[in-house]
Amino acid sequence: MKVLVFGGSFDPVHKGHVALFRRAMKVIAPDVAHIVPAYHSPFKAKSPTPFRLRMKMLKQTFAKFGKNIIFDDYELRQGGKTYTYQLVQYLQKRYAHPEIYLLVGTDCLNDLHNWKNPQIIFDHATVVAGKRKGYNENPAQFKHFFLPGFFPKLSSSRVRAHILSCGDIPNTVPAQITDTIRKNKLYGLDVHEWLRAHLKPNRYLHSCKVAEMAAVLSDIYDVKVETAVQAGILHDAGKGFSGPELIDFCHTHKIKVPFFEDICRQEPSLLHSFVSAWLAKHHFGVKDSQVVRAIAEHTLGSLHMSVLSKILFVADISSKDRKYKDAFLIRNLALQDLDKALLYAANRKLLFTIDSQKWLCPLGIDLWNHLIKQEK
Ligand SMILES: [Fe+2]
Ligand SMILES: [Fe+2]
Repeated sequence: MKVLVFGGSFDPVHKGHVALFRRAMKVIAPDVAHIVPAYHSPFKAKSPTPFRLRMKMLKQTFAKFGKNIIFDDYELRQGGKTYTYQLVQYLQKRYAHPEIYLLVGTDCLNDLHNWKNPQIIFDHATVVAGKRKGYNENPAQFKHFFLPGFFPKLSSSRVRAHILSCGDIPNTVPAQITDTIRKNKLYGLDVHEWLRAHLKPNRYLHSCKVAEMAAVLSDIYDVKVETAVQAGILHDAGKGFSGPELIDFCHTHKIKVPFFEDICRQEPSLLHSFVSAWLAKHHFGVKDSQVVRAIAEHTLGSLHMSVLSKILFVADISSKDRKYKDAFLIRNLALQDLDKALLYAANRKLLFTIDSQKWLCPLGIDLWNHLIKQEK
């Protein structure tokens, strides 16, 4: 009895999964295939997508592939983190002398030895993998074979980052699941709805463009794309408030802002970055303190900016919706040297403030002095 097993987070399922599964079904021709979504603890999950919705999207995607597919809630029934070797043991109990084929992507293949009790997996299952172009290794330590052909380099985290950055669903997910994503406002569609309701259209567009640019820079400077996009899309969430509303908000929620009294008197709009950071944490439930901090620092910077903070600061001033002439220059500089782009961005911001006859916040001056000292 041939049993094909396909496990993963599937958050969401994408066309890379579909291509892999379709080929495996054809090549292995299993008697039965188990699709096993991973259980995510609601407290530790990278994304809050409930199990039942991930399962629903899997059914919408794969039900048409045959009647011998079991959408298996094994991990949910276990109610906690389970390991692949346990899944293999469960299938061994369920079927008499099963020939188990474990379907994995190339990414997993290199990491297989680090899985818990790998020997149990290797003794009782054959690993079936899909290759991506450029992959040449041939792990000889365990029974495996590669499916013929190459498979697209897609990932669920990219899908999530795409939806969160632009509020649109990419064509890398199966058409059958787009309604489920929309109706349940998954992967940040709820955030976009809120931003559209609370920001002017051009500010909303700017937020999307900053998220898009932050995503590009995250690839270059080795920051997780989802954190960059989260910071980008939420950085101006508080921009819809007037000056007095921002001041009230800071008082009500006891938000600590350096030079608060001066800012309230001179330029209350500067408070929007601190209010946006508060909204990110308390309204949108952002748990990553680096993201919250990057949002708080996006207007005035700080002396201890993380790479993510620098990315957001630079993306904010040079996103593609910015039309002034230096935006293009800073954008290109950012692709090559983030620190130089930050220096240039800080320079532009100060000069713009002076040209506008506005008050210079000491935080902005401190940032400039700090960057200049580092330069020398
Ligand atoms: Fe801003
Ligand atoms: Fe902005």
